[in-house]
Amino acid sequence: MRKPVIAGNWKMYKTRGEAVAFIEELKPRIANVEHCDVIVAPPFTALAEAAQTAKGSKVGIAAQDVHWDAEGAHTGDVSPGMLLDAGCSHVIIGHSERRHDHGETDEQVNRKLKAALAAGLTPIVCVGETLEEREGGQTQKVLERQFLGGFAGLTPPEFSRIMMAYEPVWAIGTGRTATPELAAESHAFLRNLARRQFGDEQANAVRILYGGSVKPQNVAGLMAQEEIDGALVGGASLSVESFLAIINYPSA
Ligand code: 13P
Repeated sequence: MRKPVIAGNWKMYKTRGEAVAFIEELKPRIANVEHCDVIVAPPFTALAEAAQTAKGSKVGIAAQDVHWDAEGAHTGDVSPGMLLDAGCSHVIIGHSERRHDHGETDEQVNRKLKAALAAGLTPIVCVGETLEEREGGQTQKVLERQFLGGFAGLTPPEFSRIMMAYEPVWAIGTGRTATPELAAESHAFLRNLARRQFGDEQANAVRILYGGSVKPQNVAGLMAQEEIDGALVGGASLSVESFLAIINYPSA
């Protein structure tokens, strides 16, 4: 059985104080949560204090991006070792906002992924098609390209240490969630790619999260799909109440 994951991607929201206050409030309220792993991804500036606050609790801390080099002349970038030093356990790689705002390529995603793995971080690798690609019937072609490019050269044991997130770009921040069936179809397609590249064991074990307008009202329907192993939540992860309602989806 794959243990579900509920992860909040805070994007460019929350100061250090806001991040600490959120985690302080969340910690006791998820102390008895056993049915899923809980992760939040604060912005770089709040990572160290967020991780300090989360220490010893059930809240895992993810960064939102990483550079592949250990150090160097890369203005504005942050290395895997720096993320570990800040207390991160996870890192989101290849989010569509990185791909679109910063022109990130599958090859760069691959380099980041390998560096994160080498450092001992758990990568959460995002893939997903745009509206234009979906309407043009290109969804599977795009997912395959992102998968094969992003995961190129990985060994099965390396692949076993990653999580994936399927985030259709047209569903991010739009309030337009993919239907559970539509999302599950892409998840199954991604799992089959994993089967082909890395074998049955890895494909059956890899956790694939869905992201794109996940809310307290729609999370249970998504999570009811066998293929959907968790949620990567943007806007609805910014308030403790709505994030908790999502975490507590089995009792929704
Ligand atoms: P929203 O939940 O705000 O649509 O964002 C999804 C997302 O991009 C999570 O990484």
